[in-house]
Amino acid sequence: MTGRRELYLQEMGLMPVWRARGTPAGAADRGDAGAMDWAELKATVAGCTSCDLHKSRTRTVFGVGDENADWLFIGEAPGADEDAQGEPFVGQAGKLLDNMLKSIGLKRGDNVYITNVVKSRPPNNRNPLPDEIAACFPYLQRQIELIQPKLIVTLGKVASETLLGREATISSLRGKVHAYQGIPLIATYHPAYLLRTLQDKAKAWEDLCLAKRTMQDICSKDSATL
Ligand code: URA
Repeated sequence: MTGRRELYLQEMGLMPVWRARGTPAGAADRGDAGAMDWAELKATVAGCTSCDLHKSRTRTVFGVGDENADWLFIGEAPGADEDAQGEPFVGQAGKLLDNMLKSIGLKRGDNVYITNVVKSRPPNNRNPLPDEIAACFPYLQRQIELIQPKLIVTLGKVASETLLGREATISSLRGKVHAYQGIPLIATYHPAYLLRTLQDKAKAWEDLCLAKRTMQDICSKDSATL
């Protein structure tokens, strides 16, 4: 984390920032993705056969939105609707995600980028396996480098654990500002989980409010230093 960002977070009363203890899956072996531009990265993901998920997918699901967004939302993996349409979060969980975005004044594609840890659908919507996450992680790393978001919101356990590089429950992660490679990161529940667990929607709302406040503070500090 840069000193300036740390200072902001301290002033915002959001310190300590909770850092990853381990290395995110796949971080050690980035292959060629680390030097790719958007076009190369998209083409490489579209043709990727690095794990067995390529055998059962219809198409890869790269990500959607503003490639210079301040906000980056990261889910787990495409489901059936996303596999059919090639866009993340277009099914029922996606409708809820759009409403969650709306509740804090955001809109898909408007200063917001949405993607997943894994770009191909796992069969029967099972969780992605560690080797599948490791194979795909360099693509997500490169997306983050190209977007340079001001804030990352991880949706659910798979995305949160992957970015933070350690096992944890969402209930233990939420309510704090973590960091991925110096970028503030807030973990909240996955929209699909919230569709099944209505009582946790209020907590997700609190997480979104924390995210909004964190972004406002980052932006006001950024403009104060201009
Ligand atoms: N769940 C996810 O994690 N991502 C999607 O794109 C859709 C459902």
